[in-house]
Amino acid sequence: MPTTHVYLDHAATTPVRPEVLDAMLPYLGSQSFGNPSSSHRFGRAARAGLEQARREVAAALGAEPNQIIFTSGGTEADNLAVVGSALAARDRGQPMVACVSAIEHKAVLAAAHHVVHLGGQEVILPVGSDGVLDFDALDRALSERPAVVSVMWVNNEVGVVQPVKAIADRCCDAGCAFHTDAVQAFGKEPVSVTDFECTFLTISGHKIGAPKGIGALVVKDRKAVEAIIHGGGQQFGIRPGTENVAGAVALGRAAQLAVEEREAESARLSQLRDDLVARLRAAVPDIHVAVESSARAVNIVSVSVPGAESEAMLMHLDLAGVAVSGGSACSTGAVEPSHVLLAMGMPRELALGTLRFSLGHDSTVADIERAADVFPGVVSKVRKLSEVLGRA
Ligand SMILES: Cc1ncc(COP(=O)(O)O)c(C=O)c1O
Repeated sequence: MPTTHVYLDHAATTPVRPEVLDAMLPYLGSQSFGNPSSSHRFGRAARAGLEQARREVAAALGAEPNQIIFTSGGTEADNLAVVGSALAARDRGQPMVACVSAIEHKAVLAAAHHVVHLGGQEVILPVGSDGVLDFDALDRALSERPAVVSVMWVNNEVGVVQPVKAIADRCCDAGCAFHTDAVQAFGKEPVSVTDFECTFLTISGHKIGAPKGIGALVVKDRKAVEAIIHGGGQQFGIRPGTENVAGAVALGRAAQLAVEEREAESARLSQLRDDLVARLRAAVPDIHVAVESSARAVNIVSVSVPGAESEAMLMHLDLAGVAVSGGSACSTGAVEPSHVLLAMGMPRELALGTLRFSLGHDSTVADIERAADVFPGVVSKVRKLSEVLGRA
């Protein structure tokens, strides 16, 4: 049994950073626990923390404080942008059409599908084998004036970085709202809503060292969105409900750190990433590494291993002390190949043998070495098993 575990699954979630925990603790305990809508001193203290957090998140993203809507995470922010803009289009008498890329996170894909249930339409835009959006398909879709186009900045499975500015410019020229899910981009790419025209942008706290259950949507044009949950008038009526003050404060601090450290951290992570790829390839030469020829995330490496199943590999890696994730989703008991890899044209069998290594703030050279050391043993064990079971 390994004595220590190496965590290489930062795209799934990250540990809460000590600075972030310090910032949020007063808002959980007896000091500033008030409801930010209350007028007494307890409420005012909570409101002050909430509004400071709103300013911090806004500053980190190049937005105005009144453009920040706190949500319960990336999933809710994505739903608010996609479903909320479809509902706003309906109110304007326009068709409810949500246009999203084929490799979006399920939060966006399922939200677009919900628009169909509401009586609208979804348009799924294809990507090339490099994962980059097909611009001809985008132009065709824009000619139909969809309510919203949603294309993620950095893909969470393979790490492809989309040319978001070029996509946003086209949407702007077509007079159409643009949303980007920047959950995996924030803290790694220079994410700022001043650099291009985008109506909505999503971030999530737990990918940047804040706790789970807090996120934000930047809303640059409030007329372009309608609330998807209903209640009191908090957050300009766009996202009613008592705000998660401690979570917002945590997100504010984590966002500050993400911006302060981004350049140095990105340089460090991309070196670690390249080192990891070189070592894995030296150990198992026939692996396929996704998105090597296009712009890719500094911290995500997607590795497909012919003749080996990802679920078995990640369990053996875990036993060997290395935590990674599979490139396939386990839904309704059956392991399905990832929709992202299939959209990029990867054969089903190879897609089923895909692992995602994702690096983060606490990743070290020793972590990379350890992962690369145990990798070949795990691959040969799982390949042998597959042969015995006649699956290879
Ligand atoms: C790209 C992307 N979008 C959205 C989400 C959902 O965020 P949350 O877990 O905060 O709901 C994730 C989380 O895995 C993600 O990677």
